[in-house]
Amino acid sequence: MAPRSFLTGLLALAWSNTAFSAVLHPRSITPPAGCPIPNWTVANFKWYNGSHSLDCIHNEVDKNTKGCICNGNWCDPATCESTLVNVCYTGLPNYEPWGYGPAQTLDIKFEDGLTCHDEYIGYRIHDIAHGESNCGYADRSLGRIVSFYGSSNEPSSVGHLDYTLGDGHALKCDNGSSITYSGSVDFPLTCEHDSFFNATCTAPVFEVPILDYQWV
Ligand SMILES: *[C@@H]1O[C@H](CO)[C@@H](O)[C@H](O)[C@H]1NC(C)=O
Ligand SMILES: *[C@@H]1O[C@H](CO)[C@@H](O)[C@H](O)[C@H]1NC(C)=O
Ligand SMILES: *[C@@H]1O[C@H](CO)[C@@H](O)[C@H](O)[C@H]1NC(C)=O
Ligand SMILES: *[C@@H]1O[C@H](CO)[C@@H](O)[C@H](O)[C@H]1NC(C)=O
Repeated sequence: MAPRSFLTGLLALAWSNTAFSAVLHPRSITPPAGCPIPNWTVANFKWYNGSHSLDCIHNEVDKNTKGCICNGNWCDPATCESTLVNVCYTGLPNYEPWGYGPAQTLDIKFEDGLTCHDEYIGYRIHDIAHGESNCGYADRSLGRIVSFYGSSNEPSSVGHLDYTLGDGHALKCDNGSSITYSGSVDFPLTCEHDSFFNATCTAPVFEVPILDYQWV
């Protein structure tokens, strides 16, 4: 590369990186005096969305598909000798019916220890990549709500995360008042597809800036 175009390239890179971080990493607000502010850094992000993961929310074909249960598991529906059931009925032996690939999973691990894990479970579906994830029962009832939005269909795209700290996790300020926070961020999402188009998506370490607070 000629020195000149090398420099132009570097400048373009520097510019796009600056633009990128300005868009993707707005700064957190300054908390009111005497109040602590959390640091929501995602240390590890992983989403598996198989090309044949059962999807009883968005996939019309899956919603109408019937499967065959025999001996407590799924058998070939074409040669079924017991009753056919809708694969989207709840309480079935597992959520990988005959002809389906591994179930979708989502893992979001924060540096402060909060861990969110979702996988397709028929009786309580977390609609992965369309909102709230499962960060544990206690956390949900107390209100640490982590919502993820994104697509696994492109090799690289922009994911979105919203974080709301509920009243149950309110923090104490020096003067005794309680405060909660919320924040959100767009982050780079990278998806690798295998030959079956199963997608495994990851993200670099990213911080969810805190953009708002509330007295509770
Ligand atoms: C939050 O923690 C991360 C990783 O430990 C650090 O890089 C970042 O600077 C911290 N953010 C703030 C606002 O302190
Ligand atoms: C990928 O998808 C195929 C077809 O659904 C499935 O058989 C296979 O187990 C999947 N592979 C992985 C690594 O998830
Ligand atoms: C999950 O994967 C399926 C099959 O490739 C795809 O149709 C669907 O759009 C994906 N879901 C999201 C939220 O990207
Ligand atoms: C504590 O300080 C905040 C402003 O920093 C104020 O809004 C709140 O009313 C104060 N609480 C008490 C109990 O004085």
